[in-house]
Amino acid sequence: MRSEQVIINGGVPLKGKISIQGSKNASLPILASTALFEGEVVLHNVPDLVDIRAMLSILEYLGARYTFEKGCVRLDCKGIQNKEVPEEYTNRLRASSLLLGPLLGRYKECQVGMPGGCKIGVRPLDIHFSGFKKLGALVDGVESGLVHIRAQDLKGEFTLDMPSVGATENLIMAAVFGTERVVLRNYAKEPEVMDLIHFLQSGGAKISFEEDHGDLVIEGVKTLHGTTYQVQPDRIEAGTYCCAALATKGDVTLAGVNPKSLSSLLEKLRTMGGGVDTGDDWIRVYYRGDFIGTTVKTAVYPGFPTDLQPQIGVLMTQAKSASHLTEDVFDHRFRYIDELLRLNGEAKVEGRTAYIEPSHLSGCRVEGYDLRGTASMIMAGLCSSGVTHVSGLRHLYRGYEAFIEKLQHLGADIAYL
Ligand code: UD1
Repeated sequence: MRSEQVIINGGVPLKGKISIQGSKNASLPILASTALFEGEVVLHNVPDLVDIRAMLSILEYLGARYTFEKGCVRLDCKGIQNKEVPEEYTNRLRASSLLLGPLLGRYKECQVGMPGGCKIGVRPLDIHFSGFKKLGALVDGVESGLVHIRAQDLKGEFTLDMPSVGATENLIMAAVFGTERVVLRNYAKEPEVMDLIHFLQSGGAKISFEEDHGDLVIEGVKTLHGTTYQVQPDRIEAGTYCCAALATKGDVTLAGVNPKSLSSLLEKLRTMGGGVDTGDDWIRVYYRGDFIGTTVKTAVYPGFPTDLQPQIGVLMTQAKSASHLTEDVFDHRFRYIDELLRLNGEAKVEGRTAYIEPSHLSGCRVEGYDLRGTASMIMAGLCSSGVTHVSGLRHLYRGYEAFIEKLQHLGADIAYL
């Protein structure tokens, strides 16, 4: 049983160097898409996380065989059968909905349980479903917790209402074996979507961009062949440590990261007065003296990532002037602000915006209610005077590999309880 709680003695600046894990949100669709492959797939840089293990166990239930050692997943999906994927598997993670696309693509029919995942707002699948329907599928709706979809062939054009990451990924995966081309517009351009595309291309998929018209074009192929692929670095994990470095007045270097994928955050940190240096595959964030508040609005890529909203919210409490933080992607992502108030944070939420004042945080008992919210509570504990207990670590294990250990390595006074 992994620990559910940590104790933090706040006030220690984080200092030193750590390596960044492979991307969770790139690994999950890539793993789901292996159901489309005939040969062996080898993936490097896969983070060892609860959500990744959950996805692997669904693939195993369907008949895949795999090994997972030291970040390397070897998967053989030849034996996969088109079984119904029950809710007891799919409710473990939101990304289980990403099995709809590959199973539909390979078997022309799928039955998958409704997904679980973080409680950060209503997370419907309507864009996924209208996309499948527009391209010719029959979506039977949800019955007894199962989504049933059938399609002999997917073809045609679809413009997403909004560039949903999951819907874009599902539609791409469903279309790789079509007999005619599929064109997607207003699709998500997140680096994790691009990683899925590059992975599928490495197995022989024909996916191209017609940027003049803003189109993503998928031309069907007969099979995908075995491949070896390196998953991209986790920009959200990296961004979390960037915020924590500045919030604790520290000096942290991150290795094995792509600074370009984090430019919206790094620009904000510079505007606030933080020190930011970058190289091809590293980022250094450091305290240069008092820093100021700022305005942040979350948006689709290349805008500010919603998955870094709670972390920059905590950073804003340490600024010398007020900040505005607007959440425009999810409906319910400010629950951590209530916990911040318990730590003596000065903040209030009105509609989609949190108004955050310079605060002297003071340790107490707080809880994390979702993945990034829990990381941000730990960050808040690192910035608080006195002792903070943070519970809800089960959320953290879904997305961060060795989070506590990495903080200890950077000098934090933090321990499992
Ligand atoms: C992915 C990420 C998640 C990140 C999010 C936005 C994974 C495993 N998860 O989630 O960490 O926070 O992108 O960058 O990659 N929506 C609809 N209808 C739909 C689909 C989405 O209304 O059919 C709404 C959602 O409720 C949400 C917004 O669109 O408010 C964005 O969702 P989406 O881009 O689909 O996120 P996910 O793929 O679920």
